[in-house]
Amino acid sequence: MWLINLLAPPRYERSIDVFGGSGTVTLNLDCPQVNLKVYNDFNGNLVNLMRCAREMPLALLRELGFLTLNSRDDFELCKKFIEQEEFTEEDLKRELFLTEIMFEPPSARQMKKLLTQKAKHRDIKRAATYYKILRYSFNANGDTYGGKKCDVRRFFVDIWNFSRAFSEVTIENKDFEALIKQYDRENAFVYCDPPYFEAEGFYAVVFTKEDHTRLHDTIKEAKGYVMVSYNYAPEILELYQDFYIFYTTRPNSMSHKEGDVYEEIIMTNYDPRPFIKEKGRQLTLFPMLNISSEGEYKLIHEPPKALVV
Ligand SMILES: C[S@@+](CC[C@H](N)C(=O)[O-])C[C@H]1O[C@@H](n2cnc3c(N)ncnc32)[C@H](O)[C@@H]1O
Repeated sequence: MWLINLLAPPRYERSIDVFGGSGTVTLNLDCPQVNLKVYNDFNGNLVNLMRCAREMPLALLRELGFLTLNSRDDFELCKKFIEQEEFTEEDLKRELFLTEIMFEPPSARQMKKLLTQKAKHRDIKRAATYYKILRYSFNANGDTYGGKKCDVRRFFVDIWNFSRAFSEVTIENKDFEALIKQYDRENAFVYCDPPYFEAEGFYAVVFTKEDHTRLHDTIKEAKGYVMVSYNYAPEILELYQDFYIFYTTRPNSMSHKEGDVYEEIIMTNYDPRPFIKEKGRQLTLFPMLNISSEGEYKLIHEPPKALVV
């Protein structure tokens, strides 16, 4: 997160977290001038959880209190529930529309109220179930039971704090292309942390090779400042030749080997070096290797011309 803030422009009026996931980036971007914060993720279960945690934290906490998850069997049951209980906003809209056609106005009003209440309850149940799955799963991807011990009381603090911190955030559930086209402006900072290259199957939402290319082609046209994070992959380096590319490493939390690191690249459609100076961190005598108190990074590719200045 320190490198994202270091390489980000010092001033922007809207932040767009295109692949928002846990919301960590939305919450930790360091720019006081922002007047619009957008969090987005294409995973409907995750976005439902974010919305419920923000708008109905008490109902979610109550629902969590009734759920216990002690074994792999419980975990599989939760997963089944999530897989089957997909009731989207589109479904609700359709039901409400049909209600209007099928009933006289007074009965339709009552039916609509019931349907909306029921949908809310279902959302809360779905959110609580999904939250538990994430908290108990291996590496928080909701796929395999990790057998982790969790202190349920901790959930309460986390959800309560999240609800307050996310109160001003616009939450969206769109594919990245539609989202970027909707919110991109000259004064925007668009941050993209897409599913890692060749990590298909790790995330609930499928992201293909064509999607990686589509992402590059979309942000290449952006008017705002764009930053993209990836795992280090030659295919991505090749795809992003028109961007500035920085290399960094972080401890690999998935590895059991001590000192094992994960190689990452961070790319920008603008030259961030003047911003680093402006933030008071001078480049070192060794221009290819910058060492700050938080970690190391180096510029490994400079395009002939920045896409955005
Ligand atoms: C690497 S994770 C983002 C992690 C996030 N930065 C965090 O701090 O938790 C990638 C996210 O992209 C989402 N995603 C996958 N395909 C998408 C799409 N087409 N549009 C928007 N989001 C998508 C996934 O659901 C996943 O949460």
